[in-house]
Amino acid sequence: MTEIKIFSPATVANVACGFDVLGFCLDSVGDYMTIRKTDEKGIRITKIDGFDLPYEAEKNVAGVAALAMYKDLDLDLDCGFEIEIDKRIRPGSGIGSSAASASGSVYGINELLGRPKDKTELTFYAMQGEALASNCEHADNLAPGIFGGFTLVKSINPLKVISLPTPSELYATIIHPQIEIKTAESRAILPKEVPLGKAINQWANVGSLVHALHTSDYSLIKNALEDVIIEPFRKALIPNFDILKANALKAGALGCAISGSGPSVFALSKGKNIAEDVESAMRQTFANTSIAIETYVSKINVEGIKTLE
Ligand code: HSE
Repeated sequence: MTEIKIFSPATVANVACGFDVLGFCLDSVGDYMTIRKTDEKGIRITKIDGFDLPYEAEKNVAGVAALAMYKDLDLDLDCGFEIEIDKRIRPGSGIGSSAASASGSVYGINELLGRPKDKTELTFYAMQGEALASNCEHADNLAPGIFGGFTLVKSINPLKVISLPTPSELYATIIHPQIEIKTAESRAILPKEVPLGKAINQWANVGSLVHALHTSDYSLIKNALEDVIIEPFRKALIPNFDILKANALKAGALGCAISGSGPSVFALSKGKNIAEDVESAMRQTFANTSIAIETYVSKINVEGIKTLE
């Protein structure tokens, strides 16, 4: 096999209470990529559709991730790789745009080489690409894309990812107000210290959410989807956030919070019908504004990145 076509899905990081550690994978939106093995050594980005992004491998998140893997494998390699990206996830949307490109390139190379690396190693290489976009290493968008479903990043040094179970009736609704928020800027506004009371509240929520995923306890999911640390600072960046959240909850969502660093906002619901009601309520919130939006309803994607036939 010398060429592979893949779908690299969008992801939701943080999942309300789990800043930088929790994430889940979507299946209705993602990037399409083609990775090709070539006789010429090195990594080349040969095509980018959709958005204006750099072709130099060292400046493109997919290229940086691929280079990190390639350098590690170099002693054994007498070939190179071309990467084509059909970019469908808007950069700066808060649903893991850079992570999808970074993890897609290393997944594709790994498949073409007969899978010499495991999922944790792929996440590690992809993290080098992700760091280019956000000025820091975090894997909470990468891990759910590569492992599928819900993931918990226990640590990044050494990298340890834990796959969590996905309750079968859980659906996500995403609204993406068409403004760009750069992850680095959205991180820069966060406080460096957290009051102990809020920390206690937050880690109780993380533990509860993990338990609720294991036991498919939807009422505990509802109870745990609360972010008392990050949301109070970041919500000011997102137009209509409070009313959007109130409307989503009123429509039946179990919880509603900022997706990653925003501006997208996600809700989780029990069942597709409620997730669609939540989508309508979210759209309605923006009906009389001048802000363009996109919305998606998605089952949780337990497979993650996949090879296309
Ligand atoms: N956990 C990261 C953040 C995700 O919230 O800054 C960025 O997409």
